[in-house]
Amino acid sequence: MRMKIKQLKNPPADRPSPVGSDVTIKGWVRTVRNQKTFTFIEINDGSTLSNFQVVANPDLPNYERTMQELSTGVSVAIQGTVVESPGKNQSLELVAKEVKIIGPCDPETYPLQKKRHSYEFLRTIAHLRPRTNTLGAVARIRNALSFATHLFFQKKGFLYIHTPIITSSDCEGAGKMFRVSTLDPDALPRTKEGKVDYSKDFFEKPTYLTVSGQLEGEIYASALSDIYTFGPTFRAENSNTSRHLAEFWMIEPEMAFADINDDMDCAEEYLKYTVKYVLEHCEEDIDFFNQYVSPGLRERLEHIVNTPFERASYSYAVRILEKANKPFEYPVKWGSDLQSEHERFLAEEYFSKPVIITDYPKEIKSFYMRLNDDEKTVAAMDVLVPRIGEIIGGSQREDRLDYLKQRLIENNLKEEDYWWYLDLRKYGSVPHAGFGLGFERLVQFVTGIENIRDAIPFPRFPGKAEF
Ligand code: 4AD
Ligand code: MG
Repeated sequence: MRMKIKQLKNPPADRPSPVGSDVTIKGWVRTVRNQKTFTFIEINDGSTLSNFQVVANPDLPNYERTMQELSTGVSVAIQGTVVESPGKNQSLELVAKEVKIIGPCDPETYPLQKKRHSYEFLRTIAHLRPRTNTLGAVARIRNALSFATHLFFQKKGFLYIHTPIITSSDCEGAGKMFRVSTLDPDALPRTKEGKVDYSKDFFEKPTYLTVSGQLEGEIYASALSDIYTFGPTFRAENSNTSRHLAEFWMIEPEMAFADINDDMDCAEEYLKYTVKYVLEHCEEDIDFFNQYVSPGLRERLEHIVNTPFERASYSYAVRILEKANKPFEYPVKWGSDLQSEHERFLAEEYFSKPVIITDYPKEIKSFYMRLNDDEKTVAAMDVLVPRIGEIIGGSQREDRLDYLKQRLIENNLKEEDYWWYLDLRKYGSVPHAGFGLGFERLVQFVTGIENIRDAIPFPRFPGKAEF
């Protein structure tokens, strides 16, 4: 029977130790070390970071030939007996009775060598990079963070809602959307005025890939109270930074009968929960990142779990930044958006912990955020964390019909495009709030990986959509 290496290494408490039993493991060869009288083979099957050591003795059938064909990357099935290992790096090993090669691997051309490869190089072989320790560990942590997300919201009674990917409305109003069309670009239908005639397109109107599931999320929160979405979102921003992707995953809870304070509480609790979950369930992977990728990571993550986040208004943050006497690239003044360098200064240096900035000027935030009594700021909240900057953006929503109409006008948005969104404010409107967490930024934060392109299996960014 095949056993995954993870099972073999950590048998459930109610099972007897596998020592002495016969098992089969299947996986990919990481290293082959020929000793004088036998061979060590290290196998990895991705179920866990560490390999399983196999001892192959010359009395194996076809020993010489099989050992010659073994090299890094070869897939194998190995049957043998589990024994206590005399080596100091592992407690168990497998003494092989049969080594079967499933898929050979040409060592001359296989791009993954034993040495360390740069992240840039690994991105060019995204079909093979999950076989490296680092990208494998990222994938397991990403999986754990997804699971923890569902656990957190399900335990709190939030319903998971699937919002559409194709949309005709621009939630963030920033106009950075990818168009979805089946029109032939070489033979575009035209209106009398010479414009592209989208009434001939598949949906009979212009459509795009969504930048956020929030607006539809609000619809379901206005009926089911607490909901969350967890899906892909798309932004055609031409930003070649280590924190932006053109396709990324977002988690967006939306709560009815909630204000901005409830929103901040939920965001803080959620972040802490997911980080704690990974600390408890992904020990080996976190140790790996702590040792080889981002020294001090474990301590930083424990600090996140155990320290209350700071909360400060945008106006207060601007005063801090003005007094900071730092050579910022972008000048700070009330009314302009905080840049990543400002966000990082606040979270990393000034507060040295996550900080939630609230009440931003309405001009720099989206139309749907609730106007504060000062009529200058909105009930927005951004969660900033060390090393990343903004990881969550959210707000209390404008639940008053007349105010929302006014905000649409100010943002040059057409009422008729948002008729259903306005209806929610006409029929049984309630105070409600929500936020969006960029999932890859969370993966980056928890692993300490420098570039967001390594936090997602197949990154999409300007000029790159391979694999
Ligand atoms: O701040 P944003 O634009 O907020 C929204 O989309 C709201 N509709 C959310 C809501 O209230 N339901 O995006 C939310 C988060 C950001 O804080 C950031 O973590 C991430 O999404 N994000 C990106 N992540 C990777 N690549 C990009 N291009 C991103 N743009 C935003
Ligand atoms: Mg934002």
